Amino acid sequence: MATKTAENNNSSTAVSEKKNMTIDNASVDAKEMKNAPLHKFFVSALKDIYYAENAIVDALEKMQEAATTEELKDAFEDHQLQTKKHISRLEKIFKLIDEKPEKKECEAIKGIIKEGEEVIKSTEEGSMTRDAALIIAAQKVEHYEIATYGGLAQLAITMGHDKAADLLEKTLQEEEETDENLTDIAETFINFDAEQED
Ligand SMILES: [Fe+2]
Ligand SMILES: [Fe+2]
Repeated sequence: MATKTAENNNSSTAVSEKKNMTIDNASVDAKEMKNAPLHKFFVSALKDIYYAENAIVDALEKMQEAATTEELKDAFEDHQLQTKKHISRLEKIFKLIDEKPEKKECEAIKGIIKEGEEVIKSTEEGSMTRDAALIIAAQKVEHYEIATYGGLAQLAITMGHDKAADLLEKTLQEEEETDENLTDIAETFINFDAEQED
């Protein structure tokens, strides 16, 4: 009996030692993962797009106010709501990979948004030319996002962040739909009407 108890004690010690080792290995793995160059780049790119999405919310507000047609105003309003969803999805992604959501200033999106502001200054209020130009400015924003989300979704898959990859792909799909919708609006009537203006 005594031997059996000793054996039991030994085996339970062995189990708890093994458990501790597993926890140690897991924390070592997590530490290694966080130090991996690709993981660092992934996090930095997430911070970049997190900054960009926040800047886009403000830009879409101004573009909506400046647009001539109700169709374009509505499209900008809808995408502004979607953009707010993209921000909360990014916050979920940061959480999933155990990182803090932080913004990293993104010169590229600042430049693209500045171009949109110049479009507003250089076109006449109430004109269709303004809408034709605003659509192109907005599509430049979408293409920046499409390139970013497409690349980050692929990296997430490669690194085994499956849930993060799903969220990134969901946003990617919405950016692509927005881009197509803007093309449709331009080609249905805005570009033709703009061409008639003098
Ligand atoms: Fe977005
Ligand atoms: Fe977008």
